[in-house]
Amino acid sequence: MRQVMTNTEHDRQQSELFTPIAVGSKTAPNRVWMAPMTRGRARQDATPTEVMVEYYRQRATAGLIITEATAVSAQGYGWLNSPGLFTDEHVSAWRRVTDAVHEEGGTIFVQLWHMGSVVHPDFFAGEPPVAPSAVRQEGEIPTPQSPQEPRALVTPRGLETSEIASVVDQFRSAFRRAIDAGFDGVEIHAANGFLVDQFLRSQTNLRSDDYGGSIDNRARFLLEVVDAAANEVGSDRVGVRISPTNAVWGIADDDPLTTFSRVAELLNDKHIAYLHVLEPITDEEHFMKPGLSRVRPLIRAVFDGLLLGNGGYDFDAATADLAEGNVDAVAFGTPFIANPDLVDRFVNGHPLNGPNPETFYTPGAEGYIDYPAWGDRS
Ligand SMILES: Cc1cc2nc3c(=O)[nH]c(=O)nc-3n(C[C@H](O)[C@H](O)[C@H](O)COP(=O)(O)O)c2cc1C
Repeated sequence: MRQVMTNTEHDRQQSELFTPIAVGSKTAPNRVWMAPMTRGRARQDATPTEVMVEYYRQRATAGLIITEATAVSAQGYGWLNSPGLFTDEHVSAWRRVTDAVHEEGGTIFVQLWHMGSVVHPDFFAGEPPVAPSAVRQEGEIPTPQSPQEPRALVTPRGLETSEIASVVDQFRSAFRRAIDAGFDGVEIHAANGFLVDQFLRSQTNLRSDDYGGSIDNRARFLLEVVDAAANEVGSDRVGVRISPTNAVWGIADDDPLTTFSRVAELLNDKHIAYLHVLEPITDEEHFMKPGLSRVRPLIRAVFDGLLLGNGGYDFDAATADLAEGNVDAVAFGTPFIANPDLVDRFVNGHPLNGPNPETFYTPGAEGYIDYPAWGDRS
């Protein structure tokens, strides 16, 4: 029997979300990418677990998966039960994840972070964390000694100029391990108030050496990390994530429009796979400081490469932004938590499962690998 397509179905399938796109030397089959999301299911020593293998396997139809933030070193590690990529055991455990995703035909980049000043001293036997400058960020965070009652962040120790190369080397080792673990590429986490973002923003970077002051100086650390990544994995397998207007952990810049459009311009010379901009299209305050102008349109104007948008998108908003040329692909966060088969649901217009925030960071399978695909509903 001939299948008859309704107008709405036809319109859905015309969405550019389903058009393949080149990412460096690979081609992503669609533009529905999975945003990085910390889920707290790793072991206490930062080794990925079996439930993580299943979680990422279930989501392999994403055009590209970006993993949860993964620590480059013990110095950069401070989120309970988040994963790392700084021991051989981490590499073998991640290999099980990448194998599973590849068996399903998927592509997976690992997001790599150093948390800088957002690590509580409990992780370091009482020593303060490191940062570009001794600027205390706002907020509280659970620690091994106090998992149920988060503890206030402290004033970090400003890095000596002579130490910075060794921090870049921590990233370099993780990039090398990412290849050993079978990842298709890496995403440098320069967003959300962690170490690279602390260097970029004027209110957390008060340095007077070559890594502080002018925007080009504040961007130097990021660019050195990008160069290290390009050397280890090839620039066409490197993504960078920024969040110009968010205020998580009280992070702030005096002039985000100028800072981040310049950062985007500087990245042009690096020929990276993509630039990922977290800047909500909705007025969600958590990821956007009220009163700031959006920076993404300016970045679009100056950045020559693939621009990945993220923040509050649904199918219609993503389709519209692609059609208007505002972004080249869209990363979906919370929709992917609750819908392992998000691409299929978008293609067919099926309703979405709603996510349960209470299990975003809790251990185990619940609220993690038990969200049903459309065909598995009971
Ligand atoms: C549970 C949870 C964990 C997150 N962890 C990370 C992370 O590890 N790295 C990161 O860059 N962003 C992280 N984010 C932000 C998401 O990548 C994304 O930017 C945000 O959810 C907005 O996109 P959405 O509206 O599609 O959910 C997290 C968000 C959530 C809800």
